[in-house]
Amino acid sequence: MAVVSTSVGGANVAVQFSGLRKSFPKLDNSSSRSLFLKVESHVRLASTSKGCRAVATMLGSGKFFVGGNWKCNGSKESIGKLVSELNNATLEADVDVVVAPPFVYIDQVKNSLVNSRIQIAAQNCWTGKGGAFTGEISVEQIKDIGAGWVVLGHSERRHIIGEDDQFIGKKAAYALSQDLGVIACIGELLEEREAGRTFEVCFQQLKAYADAVSSWDKIVIAYEPVWAIGTGKVATPEQAQEVHDAVRDWLRKNVSTEVASKTRIIYGGSVNGGNSSELAKQEDIDGFLVGGASLKGVEFAAIVNSVTAKKVAA
Ligand code: PGA
Repeated sequence: MAVVSTSVGGANVAVQFSGLRKSFPKLDNSSSRSLFLKVESHVRLASTSKGCRAVATMLGSGKFFVGGNWKCNGSKESIGKLVSELNNATLEADVDVVVAPPFVYIDQVKNSLVNSRIQIAAQNCWTGKGGAFTGEISVEQIKDIGAGWVVLGHSERRHIIGEDDQFIGKKAAYALSQDLGVIACIGELLEEREAGRTFEVCFQQLKAYADAVSSWDKIVIAYEPVWAIGTGKVATPEQAQEVHDAVRDWLRKNVSTEVASKTRIIYGGSVNGGNSSELAKQEDIDGFLVGGASLKGVEFAAIVNSVTAKKVAA
């Protein structure tokens, strides 16, 4: 845990960072409280003010999170190569790193990953306990094979396979009930953005999760504008920040202030080693869900390490 000293109104205050998570000394009177608020506003906003020696450009209080969604790609051989690149990569300490291989390769990845920092996600799950559901994979099986997360609501499953909000909500609720973490995707189509419906669409998808789940403790929200996925057309940092801010505000108003603060809101859609740092500087971007670029170990590591862009030395 790093301790930095920052000067606010002439007073030196120790601010502790555990990764990017801020923890402040216990304050018990009102002048301390107002000092806390001042310090907090300095920490939260990337500041150029002279007194601030270190600033985390992060509004949420959760740890940076980067997921690699390998989709329906790879073979035993190419996945072996990718895992060895990941095993050799140096990854910043304060990031949750998760990769989502195709189901059939999870066991191979689990057994060959020596980098214990990297967790595994499945790319889908069934809505309940296993049984006579041909072709499906249950949450229990996903856990049994050693994965701790599942990606749900991805646009390819919504728009190619035809999954709807309620079906996705049901999966999320069951996965969480069995203690599997959920990377809950949302995002608008190009025509929805052009019609000015981005927030409406994202809020409706969020509401479906909120209506179904009883706890947000193990949910990471992935905002993935559909027009940016696999197209090379990344959202600008401002476009992404605008939606992330709106999503956090929605959580604040519709779930709770605590959930709004601690839920990671990550961005996905043509993230690569060249654009991740600029995106990471946005206050409400708490990490990434990466498709194509996650198939290259060195580039994926660079995206994980873009967490350093969150720390701005003044
Ligand atoms: P992309 O995919 O990075 O290839 O655009 C992102 C995703 O689908 O999660």
